[in-house]
Amino acid sequence: MISYADYLQLLPKTELHCHFASTMTATTFIELAARYGVELWGDDPETLFDFTDLPEFLVAFRAAHDVLREPADFERVAWEGVRAAVAEGNLRYREYYVNPQYFAARGIGYRDVMDPIIAGLRRAEADFGVGFRIVAAINRRDSPESAVAMVREVIEQGIPEVVGIGQDDLTPENTEDPTRFAAAYRLAASAGLKLTAHVGETPTATPDAVREAIEVLGCDRLDHGYRIVDDPAVVALALERGIGFATTPVSTTICSGWTLDERHRLRAMIDAGLTISVSTDDAMFFRTDIGKEYREGLMALGVDAAAAKRIALAGIDISFADAATKARLRGEFEGAFIALDALLEL
Ligand code: ADE
Ligand code: ZN
Repeated sequence: MISYADYLQLLPKTELHCHFASTMTATTFIELAARYGVELWGDDPETLFDFTDLPEFLVAFRAAHDVLREPADFERVAWEGVRAAVAEGNLRYREYYVNPQYFAARGIGYRDVMDPIIAGLRRAEADFGVGFRIVAAINRRDSPESAVAMVREVIEQGIPEVVGIGQDDLTPENTEDPTRFAAAYRLAASAGLKLTAHVGETPTATPDAVREAIEVLGCDRLDHGYRIVDDPAVVALALERGIGFATTPVSTTICSGWTLDERHRLRAMIDAGLTISVSTDDAMFFRTDIGKEYREGLMALGVDAAAAKRIALAGIDISFADAATKARLRGEFEGAFIALDALLEL
């Protein structure tokens, strides 16, 4: 016999939306900052990760990239992050947002970022059986031209694990404005890359940003997207196009100020029949983990076991993995569900 909280904790999981720097453990982060003499925005570990809104968090998020300098740092963070997520919530597959532009600004090139990350993730895959893919992220603070140059590099380098592009951060005006980067998306699409984008994330975002990411950018899936429920026509559009959402219940509560309960927009998305997966987004910064996102997040939303299993499986279906990987993961997940259902019902 296990509790529903344990059931959610033990469910096999993917996560499709986490930022590489946010998969660091706080211990490693503080150790690396000390090694490189990086002055953090606070020195009390108790309050270091207290943020009041998305713009304030993003200042810290950008600064945190400064502790990743040597190949060994990237490789270590990659491997440690997988090990932690397996322990915290039975992670089985993961997709990472990696921002090449944040590192380019610090003189670290595209391959100098991607190669050691991939080496660490491959080692973690051999050790823990957790497969992965990478989404190269457009930094919305930078120019549309810089985004095109970044996508050109993704295409020219042709690293097989880098399967798509996304956009994150906010524009210098603190807006989402996804179509500002339409040229970069057209280029990525022409090279067969998968497309996603952070849209509709907080109260200041709009349902129109969600519509534009689908209609104008042609995204395959979306990160967050909660404001969609404020426009039924956009919900209908996402349902018609089969767009899935990589949502982050606990993380989002902190950035949006929305209470996580049965009246939350995410619950309305589930009730509307949208395809929802669950991820951590920024685990270190929001003191969350993939087990907690399911356990605390889904329980607060009033999601039952049948819906939780659908959410776990959606994390396979809307992933950017190849068909063989998806089929293998589905088999693994269905087998684990049988064992967990039996324990829940004892
Ligand atoms: N970069 C890291 N986390 C983010 C978030 N939640 N929204 C936008 N950009 C981000
Ligand atoms: Zn994110």
